[in-house]
Order: sequence, then structure tokens, then C-alpha cells
Amino acid sequence: MQKKWTLDSWRGMPIRQVPDYADTAALNAVEATLRNYPPLVFAGEARNLKANLARVVEGKSFLLQGGDCAESFEEFRPNNIRDMFQVFLQMAVVLTFGAASPVVKVARMAGQFAKPRSADTETQNGVTLPSYRGDIINGMEFTPEARKPDPQRMIQAFSQSAATLNLLRAFAQGGYADLHRVHSWTQGFVADSPEGERYQELANRLTETLDFMAACGLTSETTPQLRETELFTSHEALLLEYEQAMTRIDSTTGDWYDVSAHMLWIGDRTRQPEGAHVEFLRGVKNPIGLKCGPSLPTDDLLKLIDILNPENEAGRLTLITRMGADKVDSKLGPLIRSVAREGKNVLWCCDPMHGNTITSANGYKTRAVDSILREVKGFFDVHQAEGTYAGGVHFEMTGQNVTECIGGAQAITETSLGDRYHTHCDPRLNASQALELAFLIAEELKKKRADKPKLRAAAAM
Ligand code: PEP
Ligand code: CO
Repeated sequence: MQKKWTLDSWRGMPIRQVPDYADTAALNAVEATLRNYPPLVFAGEARNLKANLARVVEGKSFLLQGGDCAESFEEFRPNNIRDMFQVFLQMAVVLTFGAASPVVKVARMAGQFAKPRSADTETQNGVTLPSYRGDIINGMEFTPEARKPDPQRMIQAFSQSAATLNLLRAFAQGGYADLHRVHSWTQGFVADSPEGERYQELANRLTETLDFMAACGLTSETTPQLRETELFTSHEALLLEYEQAMTRIDSTTGDWYDVSAHMLWIGDRTRQPEGAHVEFLRGVKNPIGLKCGPSLPTDDLLKLIDILNPENEAGRLTLITRMGADKVDSKLGPLIRSVAREGKNVLWCCDPMHGNTITSANGYKTRAVDSILREVKGFFDVHQAEGTYAGGVHFEMTGQNVTECIGGAQAITETSLGDRYHTHCDPRLNASQALELAFLIAEELKKKRADKPKLRAAAAM
């Protein structure tokens, strides 16, 4: 039997990745301030996302999750938000077409600030300081002042999240997300990409489809679905003081919701079944994610599923697997088999980023587009072999033309990584790499769709 959950029951549990706030009074004051701030999202929206994710579990839809590894105060600009929104929508349209199914769009934005680190401290030239833990906690600059955790940063992160979300809502509902407009951006990409020819056919078919729909009277003027879109937000629920302050009782249902984002996830470093992060998230009713890395034992996963989704509700729990391209074959199958055997309703989503981080010869933390694609393909293949549904993908990406991941049609090399390497944490796909991946995944989804009748026919024999 689980002990009773309360808003602060996590405080009595073992916790990892916590900042060392020196001034407890200042921390308490910030928490009290945040508790009075308005919610960033409504509980009803989180329920709507859960219903959308439940349709993914049933195989009727596909999940696209993506955004910055870490949002930063420094890069907070309307154009950055706009560019990310653009490329994310383009990917969604390409995937919708490839999968011939709706795509649920969940951004890693408007709150993705706190970062887990592999070490508590960092040493440079004999000087040791606390590690950078994301702008909501401390500054990246290697000085004692910047690295000191400052609770006031939570207030700034809140207001940046509110402003970001406000712009995203305006873009989504105010005509900017019009399907025709999104498609014309994509046509621009195809025309400019060195590998454009490869994507031309899909883009042309999409043009024809839109023309056909217009001929039938389905235009942006007549059809809100072509004019507007629905975008949800998500982040890692790592800084529990902040998450607790943003958790409220929903007056409609009487349930607790973390109103800092629609969806929250538990990172691979903080997923201990008896740990504070699992304890906190089990009590809120938002849809939640759980990162599953190669070190996650099957028994722990089953235990975590029971703790986090005791009612086996579809849409409540998304398992975001991040095994690495070389391990996806051997590690994912056993997890999928055990979860399926137990009849658990979960959404399987592939994060091909975090298991594929390498250090380049010139010292940059990077990822190869080839490995990313290889993990996604492996993910689809394992699911096909197990007869389960590969429900979504999760990327670290930006709308900017950065040089942080190697490869892709632009052929970014190790030596060019230094040109525009701006990330505050992990290397992100740039706009062109991200869209290119969406095209390649769309091809994969199309192939899988074509294989389905064959599989069914074989099963009937
Ligand atoms: C992340 O998503 O940025 C992250 C830290 O991932 P993981 O917990 O899977 O390592
Ligand atoms: Co990351």
C-alpha cells in the first residue's frame, strides 16, 4: 500500500540533483510568492492533452515532443520562439502526412529550465564551483557569484514561461499556424536543401492534397482546423520547490494539477521508485513522462508504472526511451515485452538524443544525425517485431541555424561545430536537421503503414 500523497510528501524522501540554497528564508519567500501567481495552464487543458495521448496509445495518433535542452534567459527573444514554433509545426505537418494520422504537439518550452548534471561541482584550472544547473537555479558563467543557486531566478523563469506561452498561444490560434503557410515554409526548405529532391515528392503530394481540399471547399476561411493548431507545453519536473509552488487543486475535479506545464516528465537520473521526484509526480493528475535509459531494470520499470499509473489509465504515462543507437535493439525489446505482458497502457516515445551524446575530437559535446536516425529506426523496428505501437518521437532542437549536431544534409563536420555552438546544455538539432529528420521519419512511417496489411495478411494465413 502506498502512503498518502500530500503536496510536500516528496520532502521526506531521498532526493537527487538538488541545488544547495544557502538562504532558506529567501527560498521560502520565493515559494510563497509563486504560490500566489496565476497558473500557466489550466487543468482542463492538461486533461485534454491526456485524452489526446490516450488516442496515441490506441495507435490512432502520433506524438511529437521537442524543443531546447535548456531554455535560457539570455536567448529569450520573440524571434527564437517564433523560429522554433515554425520548424516544430513543419515537422508536425510532415509527420501527419507520413503517418496519415493526427500528431499531438508537445513543446519542450515555456518552463524547460532546470538541468540534471552528472557531477555536483565543476573544476577549471584548479578552481571548483557548483555545476551549472539551468537558468532557473544558477548562472552558466564560471564565477562563484553566478554559480551560487539563487531562488529569485524562479521568479524570472516563471515570467519568461508566461511570456513564451502567451506568444505560443497567439501563434497557434491567431492565424500564424495556417496549414498553407506552414506548407509554404516547407516548400522553401525543400527548394533550398542540398537533399531537397528526396523530399520533393512528399511536399508535392501535400500541395496536391491542399489544392484538392480547397477545390472541395475546405479552406482556411471555412475550416478552423486548417487555420489553427493546438500546442501543449512540457518540461522536466526537476526543481520540486518550483513545481510544488505551481501545483494547485482544480476546482472542477478537486484533483491536484501542476499548472506550470501541461505535461511533466521525470528524468533518467531522478527516477528512483522510492525517490522524491517519483513521489511528487505520482500525486498530480497531469499526463506525465518517464525517461527510460539503458540502466533501467525491467523490475524497476514495472514498479514505476504501478506507482505512477495505478489505474492503468491510457494517456497518463509516456515512456520516453533513450537507449542509444547501439543499445536500442537489445534494451528496448525486453522492456516492451514485460510491459505488454502485464497489460499496461503506456505510450512509447523515442528520445534519440540522450543516448547518443559524444565528445568531438575538438572537445564539443555533440550528436551525429546518423546515430539519431539509427535509434529512431531501431525503435520502430523493435516495436514492429513486438507488435506494439511506436507512438512518438522526442527531440532536442531549435529553430536557429546552430552547429551543434554533426551530419545532416548541410554536412556539419566536427571542425565546424565551433561556428555557432550556442546551447546552454546538450547539442540540439538545427532547423534544417530537425525538418530533415521529420521527412525521414515520415518515410519510415509510410513504409510501416504499407507493411501493416502485409502483416495482417500473414497473420491470417
Ligand atoms: C533531457 O531531456 O534534457 C535530459 C536530461 O534527459 P535524460 O533525463 O533522459 O538524460
Ligand atoms: Co538534454
